[in-house]
Amino acid sequence: MSGSTLPAPPSLSDPAAFIREQTTLVSPPLVPELRLWTATEITPLWEATELLMQRTGIEPPFWAYAWPGSQALARFLLDQPQVVAGKRVLDVGSGNGLAALAAARAGAQVVANDVDPMSLVAVALNAEENGLSVEGLLADLTGGEVLVDADVVLVGDLCYDKNITERLLSWLRGRVAAGARVLISEPGRAFAPREGVRALATYTVPTTMELESRTERETVILELLG
Ligand SMILES: C[S@@+](CC[C@H](N)C(=O)[O-])C[C@H]1O[C@@H](n2cnc3c(N)ncnc32)[C@H](O)[C@@H]1O
Repeated sequence: MSGSTLPAPPSLSDPAAFIREQTTLVSPPLVPELRLWTATEITPLWEATELLMQRTGIEPPFWAYAWPGSQALARFLLDQPQVVAGKRVLDVGSGNGLAALAAARAGAQVVANDVDPMSLVAVALNAEENGLSVEGLLADLTGGEVLVDADVVLVGDLCYDKNITERLLSWLRGRVAAGARVLISEPGRAFAPREGVRALATYTVPTTMELESRTERETVILELLG
């Protein structure tokens, strides 16, 4: 046996320490007002996350990036705080929480929701870093078992998967029928809704070749009409 030692596997007991070790504090290009724990490269972090979870074949570490969806939503809300100020806001599929944090900064009472427990750890760290308060909710709301009252529902970049999008859009239409305003930030994913929506704003979001195979993505804020 050689005398070399293997790195200790990351500890599930302290996922916040894992995030701090594996990422760095960065402002997303479109949102210089906020700083978030962000990965510089996807593959090493993905492998480290599999080690942390002691599982393979897991989803990419969505929580480690500000995707074009949340960048555009955050910019929209910070420039037009009246859209959410004083309102109850739900950010579905929050990832690193950027859109949720922008809503909180604009004066909303915010719930950040995701199905990935690591996302909610990242949201809490990012909220702390920016001196903002956001409640985390680990659930798949599209199942209908968990109910959250919200005046405004935010969705950033979730239409990349057919099954997720179908369930999500059906649930979101129910939210519109119940009186909520639903804003979907869409960077041109395959299953984005094309009918029953109106465009409110368009942003050109800088991206990386590694994540998006292109340097920018045109991202539209859509309001779901029902
Ligand atoms: C591409 S990331 C977008 C994250 C963030 N909204 C953004 O734009 O930066 C998609 C996120 O949706 C989450 N997600 C997928 N299905 C979901 C569901 N049914 N309910 C809530 N979150 C979900 C994933 O875990 C992931 O964090």
